[in-house]
Amino acid sequence: MSITRLSLQSVRNLTECHINPDPRFNIIEGVNASGKTSILEAIYLISQVKSFRTHRINHIIQYKKEALQVVAQYLDHNQYAHLIGLSRNRSTTKIHLNKQPVNLSSKLAALVPVQVITPESHRLLEDGPKFRRQFIDWGVFHVEHGFLQTWKDYHRILRQRNAALRQKQPIQQIRNWTLPLVEITQKFHHARVKYLHALTPIVKSYTEQLIGEAVSLEYVPGWPKDQNFIDALESSYEQDCQFRHTRVGPHRADLNMTSRGIAVQIGLSRGQQKLLVCALRLAQIQYLQHLSQQSCIILVDDLPAELDKAHRDRLMTLLDDTGAQIFVTATDPRLLNVNPKTSKKVFHVEHGEIKEVVY
Ligand SMILES: Nc1ncnc2c1ncn2[C@@H]1O[C@H](COP(=O)(O)OP(=O)(O)O)[C@@H](O)[C@H]1O
Ligand SMILES: [Mg+2]
Repeated sequence: MSITRLSLQSVRNLTECHINPDPRFNIIEGVNASGKTSILEAIYLISQVKSFRTHRINHIIQYKKEALQVVAQYLDHNQYAHLIGLSRNRSTTKIHLNKQPVNLSSKLAALVPVQVITPESHRLLEDGPKFRRQFIDWGVFHVEHGFLQTWKDYHRILRQRNAALRQKQPIQQIRNWTLPLVEITQKFHHARVKYLHALTPIVKSYTEQLIGEAVSLEYVPGWPKDQNFIDALESSYEQDCQFRHTRVGPHRADLNMTSRGIAVQIGLSRGQQKLLVCALRLAQIQYLQHLSQQSCIILVDDLPAELDKAHRDRLMTLLDDTGAQIFVTATDPRLLNVNPKTSKKVFHVEHGEIKEVVY
């Protein structure tokens, strides 16, 4: 699976550019503020219909321009070619797949799985549990058909129960949501647990290779461990009424990670935390490949940042071993050791213009 051609218009400082990426390694080099990350952002955009840098997609549109456009030719895992087009003006996003309008952005996400590793990646560990839930749900979404519907159904029922709590509806009205919520929670919870169970040994193997320690994962379901969900919901009823929202359930889940029994947030250095996040993402990539033969597009922003040579090289090798299409940005590409047997292209970015470097 790879992007065979990428065209951008008015994406941040990139006024117009066209590249034919290599199916394997693509190194994007250039000084600070040349536009390297913006290229990764554009690739992410055609998969996720959002940015990994900002919630405000309008910020990506070039100043003084009406709209941005990204067009990609994409070869899927069956070697079928697709044409993906995305345009965004200040108020609306339009997506086209093979020249047909697409309403559901999840269609693109399913077609083009993308993983990002950035210098801010350790936030997956340090920020709130929402990011870790997103991490798990990304994985389940790609390997389990129907999970998106489960996710949506759960959140719809939760919203309805929360609305009943907010409106201080009588207990019987609120209890009407108990059974649907319990049923959908079982499905939701089970899908996450099953996924993490399969992912854990792969994460262990990657963390051993990258940081020399096996990291353990523990899923925290969003209600007390010693209770089943229906009892937890019952026990939480009075507090739910007081706070006017549902305080237990998979929307409160988290993923605890420990190394030698100590939380990774405390026990690992910043560099090790970054490598752990790489290991987590690599594990997701490998598991997806193992189950579905689908590979990801991997975007790595500023890979050399804060990694010593040995770890950089090890990470490059593990990235290479995925066989996926990879885009790596760097201010100094000499720091990136690509296996000479792996095909690669180098692109030089300068003041928002991109050119392939031909040696
Ligand atoms: N909406 C925008 N329109 C035009 N330029 C922008 C916009 N947003 C950011 N920029 C500029 O784009 C340049 C490239 O940013 P970036 O892709 O982060 O560079 P790099 O990753 O190479 O350091 C920066 O100088 C930034 O100020
Ligand atoms: Mg950058």
